[in-house]
Amino acid sequence: MRIVVLVSGTGSNLQAVIDAVQSGDLPVEIAAVGADRPGTYGVERAAAAGIPTFVVDFKQYGNRTEWNADLTERTAAYDPHYVVSSGFMRIVDQQFLDRFPNRYLNTHPALLPSFPGAHGVRDALAYGVKVTGCTVMIADAGIDTGPILSQAAVPVLDDDTEETLHERIKVQERALLIETLRDLATLNGSTA
Ligand code: GAR
Repeated sequence: MRIVVLVSGTGSNLQAVIDAVQSGDLPVEIAAVGADRPGTYGVERAAAAGIPTFVVDFKQYGNRTEWNADLTERTAAYDPHYVVSSGFMRIVDQQFLDRFPNRYLNTHPALLPSFPGAHGVRDALAYGVKVTGCTVMIADAGIDTGPILSQAAVPVLDDDTEETLHERIKVQERALLIETLRDLATLNGSTA
């Protein structure tokens, strides 16, 4: 099973996937890692692992439609079975979704449908929930609204800050993403 991973930031989830693939725990080929901006640590991690990378720099485009069209083409060039948003902080448009129908996966650091959006950890903490977590879903045109594939719960501690809570969520999120990709690879008949 071939995947393309999209990142905007540090790519710690990506690193976990790279490690699982390299150790033989995940029968997936990471065909490429793409980013929406130059200089991300996620792209550096991919390059260090010998994975092809590409950047479709949002700021270089006059409008979203052109950016989206280029992102779609650059991603499709690797003919992935799944595209994985791993902290990719941009909304893609319908053209991208149509090119990868039910094949664009997203991770979110909260138990959807609670706390969607860019600040899932902060919003859960501010609300005062005692349990939050992470979600792997199939992305659709909404913001964190697609069908849920898997979730894991994480308790909120009394002295948690956004950072400490997010770090604990990410531990679960990495394991959940790998487990979910492994299940999809099995369904797709991948053994290597
Ligand atoms: C992850 O927790 C991911 O769920 C979140 O960004 C983090 C990226 O971490 N994504 C969202 O909040 C999307 N709404 P990473 O760059 O270290 O993998």
